Amino acid sequence: MMAECSTISDPRDDLAKQLREHGQEHLLATWEEIPSQSRESLLESIREIDWSLIQRLYASRNCKPDIGKLIQAATSPRGPRLSDRADPRVRRAAVECGEEALRAGRVACILVAGGQGSRLGFEHPKGMYPIGPLSGHTLFQILVGKALARGRRYGRRMPLALMTSPLTHAETVAYCEHNDRLGLGDDLHIFCQGTMPSLDAETGKALLAVPDTLALSPDGHGGMLAAIHRHGILTRLHEQGIRHLFYFQIDNPLLDVAEPEFLGHHILAGSEMSTLVVAKKTPLDKVGNVIQVGDNLHVVEYSDLPEFLAKKPGPNGKLLLWAGSIGVHVIELDFLLRVADLAEVMPFHVAHKKVAYYDPRKRILVKPEAPNAIKFERFIFDLILHAKNAMVIEVEESDQFAPLKNAPGAERDTPQYVQDQLVAKYRRMLRESGCEIVGEPAVEIDSLFALDSWELSQKLRQGIKIAEPTYFSPDGPVLVKHGGDDS
Ligand code: UD1
Repeated sequence: MMAECSTISDPRDDLAKQLREHGQEHLLATWEEIPSQSRESLLESIREIDWSLIQRLYASRNCKPDIGKLIQAATSPRGPRLSDRADPRVRRAAVECGEEALRAGRVACILVAGGQGSRLGFEHPKGMYPIGPLSGHTLFQILVGKALARGRRYGRRMPLALMTSPLTHAETVAYCEHNDRLGLGDDLHIFCQGTMPSLDAETGKALLAVPDTLALSPDGHGGMLAAIHRHGILTRLHEQGIRHLFYFQIDNPLLDVAEPEFLGHHILAGSEMSTLVVAKKTPLDKVGNVIQVGDNLHVVEYSDLPEFLAKKPGPNGKLLLWAGSIGVHVIELDFLLRVADLAEVMPFHVAHKKVAYYDPRKRILVKPEAPNAIKFERFIFDLILHAKNAMVIEVEESDQFAPLKNAPGAERDTPQYVQDQLVAKYRRMLRESGCEIVGEPAVEIDSLFALDSWELSQKLRQGIKIAEPTYFSPDGPVLVKHGGDDS
């Protein structure tokens, strides 16, 4: 072949040397098998990776922080509780402060939606899952609709940055374009997170997905910081006057997006990062555990927590680790800009996973039966350790947290579970606004109709009875017959 006899230096030479230094020379072993048009993209994706970082991460894969020591020094995290039992004056002051920030246009949202959602068994980005109990609206429509409605309530256009991964990007962009950019127009900023190579767990060698493509996986929701910075969105938002970022996950449609009281407590405390928690129901709940150690907050993932530590009692006979993270934070933009270039603020975590790969020696695709690979991910909540005056804010689970994680049949966090929680919350809102619910009709309230019971009370006549399934659409109440037909 021409390229073989050419005297022009082979583009692979430098790279091959570099790969050899890091034990990854096998990545060019498929060269002769792959079509010439794929070769450049393979070289490029290999060049983009910091192989000395990968080597260091693999070498330290078994070095885990001493969780036992951390928990020994842990105390119950400090912070207010958003409930009827809290001091009404403190609550009022927080609401006013949060509303002032919203009115002044200092708040933007960031929604992370790059995960694979493999437990749900849905073949598309999770945000496209139709979850509205009567409307059939998707997670994207419900959650982005809440951000849109919040901005409108305070007379501002609130920007929303939506993070995808290479797995969800193209479909998410197409979906948003097809759905009028979810009503946000130019205020919707879609950006794609980075990736990390998957390594063979035994040898540390990077895996190929197919002969001409590396096996890459999203670099965790912590990849948000590097990606939003790289895409210039962080600086642009800062120039626009944004100071507080409301960060949330795609799976929780029960959440009140950019809720003023949460924002207000965070701002009044001078916190650089605050996080919403719920009281865990059992020690082994599958949530991150927020703990206080001295002046700092840490989040310890349930999977890293031995059972005996999870069950450790705290003062008052309650669990020491009572505060379950729901993956919702308010983060100061100045804080993010300060730490964006400091790799050490967000260490990589190691996950053992099953990854299908191409074996270049045997020339076959292998589908492993058991975890064979390690993946590296960053978690955004690790930032909280570095934030000044970080605080937790406790909310009622039934009011703010019903994540869609599992396929039908699981014990909780299934589509049915989430819809039941949504309907229960909408019924409570209607009752609080002065309506009477007769029986147990399914109800759904579009956030563009009303974001809360106060707004409902402004739009609905006091004392009206609701006995039939009713969807409160942006244009007003619509009775819904079986099968979803309007009447
Ligand atoms: C996560 C938290 C857990 C918390 C729970 C609340 C981690 C490691 N754990 O658990 O502490 O109690 O949520 O529901 O996060 N995502 C990306 N890119 C990625 C990976 C994930 O954008 O590379 C997004 C997902 O789309 C999702 C969110 O991050 O919106 C959470 O990811 P997921 O893997 O579902 O976290 P959980 O294990 O459920």
